[in-house]
Amino acid sequence: MKPVNRFESRKIHPLPLGEGRVRVSGGTALALLLLVSVVCLAQTPAQTPAGNAENGKRLFLKHDCYWCHGTAGQGSSAGARIGGTALNLQGVMRYVRQPTGSMPAFTDKVLTDQELTDIYAYLKSVQAPKAATVPLLNQLREK
Ligand code: HEC
Repeated sequence: MKPVNRFESRKIHPLPLGEGRVRVSGGTALALLLLVSVVCLAQTPAQTPAGNAENGKRLFLKHDCYWCHGTAGQGSSAGARIGGTALNLQGVMRYVRQPTGSMPAFTDKVLTDQELTDIYAYLKSVQAPKAATVPLLNQLREK
């Protein structure tokens, strides 16, 4: 018996190797792209983008925000109290990019949106202490 050509017997058209490879990798890339975008969409929270408060603290100190605003955003003679800020993320971004007073501007070349988001998370995580929680002030008041 004559050996049959495997492809012919199954009626499959073999693709030239090169073409087959290109098609497969193109399809794989597309599938990966779809997968990545689905994962990204799924991880984006509906409202406030997540910030990393710990990294925010590092940046807050690194970019000298603390000079004027204090290490915990408590404010000083040189800058407003911004710990636990009432501004939302957009408000903080807008202000830091284009301050209206004596604060220097920080462009997105200096601080990216993501870095500002982290700083925002840090500011939200620290609450400036109220006078009543500062023991020394209470002692003074009792006198
Ligand atoms: C040289 C001092 C100085 C530095 C440095 C500084 N700020 Fe300010 N910032 C101010 C002052 C003063 C104000 C109050 C309004 C004004 O005069 O601009 C202010 C206001 C703000 C406000 C608005 C507060 C509000 O509730 O309206 C935000 C937010 C803020 N700063 C964030 C930052 C961040 C984040 C950094 C670091 C990347 C920073 N600042 C660095 C001086 C400073």
